[in-house]
Amino acid sequence: MRKYYYVLISLIAAISGILFGFDTGVMSGAILFIEQDFPLTPGMNGIVVGSVLLGALAGAICSGRATDYFGRRKLLLIVAFIFVFGALGTAIAPSILMLVVGRIIVGIAIGVASYVGPLYISEMAPKKHRGALVSLNQLAITAGILLSYIVDYYFSFTSNWRWMLGFGIFPGILLYLGMLYLPESPRWLLSQGDEEQARNNLLPIRGSEESVEREIAEIKVTLKKEAADWKIIFSKLVRPVLWIGFGLAFIQQVTGINTILYYAPTILKMAGFGNASVSILATMGIGAVMFLVTLIALPLIDRWGRRPLLLAGLVGMGLSLGALALMFESSTGIPPSLEWLGLSTMLIYIACFSFSLGPIMWLMIAEIYPLQVRGIGASLATCANWCSNLLVTATFLKMIEWVGARGTFSVYMACCLLSIGFVYFLIPETKGTSLEEIEENLFAGKPWRQLGSKLTKVKFK
Ligand code: BGC
Repeated sequence: MRKYYYVLISLIAAISGILFGFDTGVMSGAILFIEQDFPLTPGMNGIVVGSVLLGALAGAICSGRATDYFGRRKLLLIVAFIFVFGALGTAIAPSILMLVVGRIIVGIAIGVASYVGPLYISEMAPKKHRGALVSLNQLAITAGILLSYIVDYYFSFTSNWRWMLGFGIFPGILLYLGMLYLPESPRWLLSQGDEEQARNNLLPIRGSEESVEREIAEIKVTLKKEAADWKIIFSKLVRPVLWIGFGLAFIQQVTGINTILYYAPTILKMAGFGNASVSILATMGIGAVMFLVTLIALPLIDRWGRRPLLLAGLVGMGLSLGALALMFESSTGIPPSLEWLGLSTMLIYIACFSFSLGPIMWLMIAEIYPLQVRGIGASLATCANWCSNLLVTATFLKMIEWVGARGTFSVYMACCLLSIGFVYFLIPETKGTSLEEIEENLFAGKPWRQLGSKLTKVKFK
């Protein structure tokens, strides 16, 4: 029963991931029909497509301290409300300006939800299953992307872009209703001094009084050590996790995932698939592979650990990008005989991302920061993620123009190789370690790689 309760909590909070995935995916199809109603210059087209990313960046920047101030649950409720409001605005927008404003509002909600959802789950989850439970969020992102492709396809027959964008209201309402019934994070409650409520909220998810007392004692020990000042995020002792978070957020994007996702139809066309319907089907295939591989990866994150999956994923991504680069004869295309090989290589790349950088980046930024600054730490890493996302997707087509497809994919491949070094030398293994042990290690000044090591003495009695 208890097990189902914390899985249920995680599933509800992960609806925020569906919003994230749905709204980053939906525009690829909707823009084709928006252009029929509102003639757009190429610049304006870029603004309509990119406005959600800009909003997400703003949401992530502005909300860090709010997460630590209002609490995780309240913020997720606010986010769900803003989301529904923004999605409704885009569905009824009378002008292109209103559409852009609506998309920025939706983006703000996504920027906040993208890290508060995982952070809330990581604070509720038992350490043994934390990897799988937090990664439900990434599974939800992929489900959201797939859903957006299906919705786009369905409404494309009536050219109804308003329903495509407006459909996002449904997961927004679900998140709001679900969060109304969920408890606030006991860790956050303790950081606010509300020990009684923290104990009450923890009991149904941990089952026994004994484990609740042990966990509360652990959290209190770490809280005593920290000054209640958000600026400690920049202090010398905490800086390693700041860099780990920035680094993971950055490499998740500069290894090219969203160029493949956002521009899949364009790349497929370059890869020789002239037929539009084959290209749409192949795009759905990409969404399905992403979802299935993430699903398979969930239990492995706690069994095999974060590091082996990250390293294996990066090697696979690097190799498939290299192969893709080799297949492009020129900036224009892949020879017809190799088009299916091109598509398979893209699918292998997507699969490798889905069991490594996809889920593990969001997981680790929800677990490495000390409690007092967990919100702001995760929000800074999230900003770095949206910033790099914008940078990579905005430069992709220009890069193809300058250095050709072969050159462009080679650059992403080089980023994969550098990322392997970063992960190998600097990223800790946090499998099976409690959030408090990670924090203890950090304040003990342990090297980056050892931040996830378990404490040998039972310190928290
Ligand atoms: C990334 C997104 C990406 C998505 C694809 C997420 O983890 O942050 O940028 O679009 O995965 O599944």
